[in-house]
Amino acid sequence: MSTALEINNARFNQEAIDWDSNKKHVESVAKAFEAITRLVPAFQDGTSKNLDVLEIGCGTGLLSFLLAPHVRSLVGVDTSDGMISAFNAKVGALPDDYTVNLAAVNVLVQEADDVHVQGAAAALASRRGESGHDTPYRFDLVVSHLTLHHIPSMPGIFSTLLQCLRPGGWIALTDYEDFGPEAIAFHPEDKRPGVERHGIKKDEVLEIIDGTGFNKVRVEEAFVLRKEVEAEDGKPAREMDFPFIICLAVRT
Ligand SMILES: C[S@@+](CC[C@H](N)C(=O)[O-])C[C@H]1O[C@@H](n2cnc3c(N)ncnc32)[C@H](O)[C@@H]1O
Repeated sequence: MSTALEINNARFNQEAIDWDSNKKHVESVAKAFEAITRLVPAFQDGTSKNLDVLEIGCGTGLLSFLLAPHVRSLVGVDTSDGMISAFNAKVGALPDDYTVNLAAVNVLVQEADDVHVQGAAAALASRRGESGHDTPYRFDLVVSHLTLHHIPSMPGIFSTLLQCLRPGGWIALTDYEDFGPEAIAFHPEDKRPGVERHGIKKDEVLEIIDGTGFNKVRVEEAFVLRKEVEAEDGKPAREMDFPFIICLAVRT
């Protein structure tokens, strides 16, 4: 029997090629980018160019490529090799004079010292002229969009993310909210295997983040995505509004 991770990887490997041509993917990422840059102080106080960012579930890089011009570096991780290939093809197509400050690795991150993440962070640091680094790389900001609902252990991922941050570092994670039984309609039936939870419950995630040891924890509605859902259970195909939340917290 396939694990949820194998099911997800098979699905996302297949979807990677056309991912960026889905207007709803592009729209939801643009809204996530707007929320992150509105709510993470460094984007408001002019210091965002000092940020080293880690993105969990970067996919083809829709959010990564929006963030990269505003930050110092961005390392994306994703468990689907198809998504990482699509990301790398886009990096390869950047103009020669573009300062490449982003990279992606195909890995399931379970510890802050993950060798692939460390390698990517080191490569970006050496590209900007830094030599040597005697402690493991840590990040100033961790972002993630539409990925938390795929991750089996929420306490597990938040504990890893806390370790990935420098003191003073932020998390800013966006995903759709579990606002009740209707949230299941976000995914059509054929995409539900491999989905760990049908959205994120605000109170539940707040308690988990708090319990992990983060400070200044805020979980709030960030935006709404209207999208078409399939006919199901006697209800016709229709448009539905899906609220998205942003999880914000700081490592002190
Ligand atoms: C719905 S897609 C979103 C992709 C991208 N963030 C975007 O919005 O375009 C979810 C992504 O998370 C990845 N993923 C699922 N579980 C993961 C995990 N445990 N660690 C890293 N990536 C994961 C999938 O391979 C997929 O690329």
